[in-house]
Amino acid sequence: MNYEYILVKEQVAPYIALIQLNRPKELNALNLQLMGEVREALKSLDDNDAVRVIIITGNERAFAAGADIKQMSDKNAIDMLKIDQFSTWDQIKKTKKPIIAAVSGFALGGGCELVMHCDCVVASETAQFGQPEIKIGVMPGAGGTQRLPRAVGKALAMEMVLTGDFISAERALAAGLINKIVPVEVLMEETIRMAKAMAKNSPIALQMAKESVLKSFENSLTEGLYFERKNFYMLFATEDQKEGMAAFVNKRKPDFKGR
Ligand code: CAA
Repeated sequence: MNYEYILVKEQVAPYIALIQLNRPKELNALNLQLMGEVREALKSLDDNDAVRVIIITGNERAFAAGADIKQMSDKNAIDMLKIDQFSTWDQIKKTKKPIIAAVSGFALGGGCELVMHCDCVVASETAQFGQPEIKIGVMPGAGGTQRLPRAVGKALAMEMVLTGDFISAERALAAGLINKIVPVEVLMEETIRMAKAMAKNSPIALQMAKESVLKSFENSLTEGLYFERKNFYMLFATEDQKEGMAAFVNKRKPDFKGR
């Protein structure tokens, strides 16, 4: 596929793919085309058996500074309804494989919301997170008011959404928005290290485990536990379960095939 606003590497390391947002002059502002490309790339990588984990990154200055304000500024409510930009995000949410965000610089508005669509987040010391939509007369629209309080709790989510102020990587780590902070020079290396630790596991188990964790945000505990149990039992239908347990018993490394 030829993309205009993203770069895709299918094998940045074995079983690990990379999507780089690539609109540097606009701080990777997420216009409709860019988001459509991210959706297409994720779908294609999700369907590719040679990929087990996906990394999304930006550049040193910006992961993404939000939805493209210039593209939205003259729209009315009906235009926005018809454009229906968030249906693209609904597709991104359906990605089955684990996604890790590697964040340096600004992750604002839709950029912060894209980070929250990812399953884990590695940030550089320079990363800043925010939902500044309130400062331009609107509010988050790609999940910020829902995912942020689930990630960081009500008080900080309210502060971020109502003031529009950014938080540092340290505060994001303390609040539980991100997994770790690393020096900017080793951001990709450290993200790939985390991706490798996932990718060495059974890809089917990875998908079912991701699906089960995400269910915990949607269901009651009883329903969630029931869902988890079904997925756990289902994994006993895989060759990977036989291989993983045999490898443990025989004190060797497993060789998972994704079957
Ligand atoms: N949309 C469109 N263009 C943007 C942009 C955005 N979200 N963010 C930055 N840019 C553009 C700037 O207009 C500028 O372009 P020009 O050189 O053509 O003027 C270029 O990127 C560089 O930006 P700045 O000159 O502003 O850089 P800075 O270092 O002075 O400031 C910043 C950086 C604080 C991130 C500032 O650019 C900023 O506040 N950006 C907007 C952040 C924002 O409000 N995001 C929320 C968008 S709405 C949204 O995301 C809705 C949703 O929920 C989906």
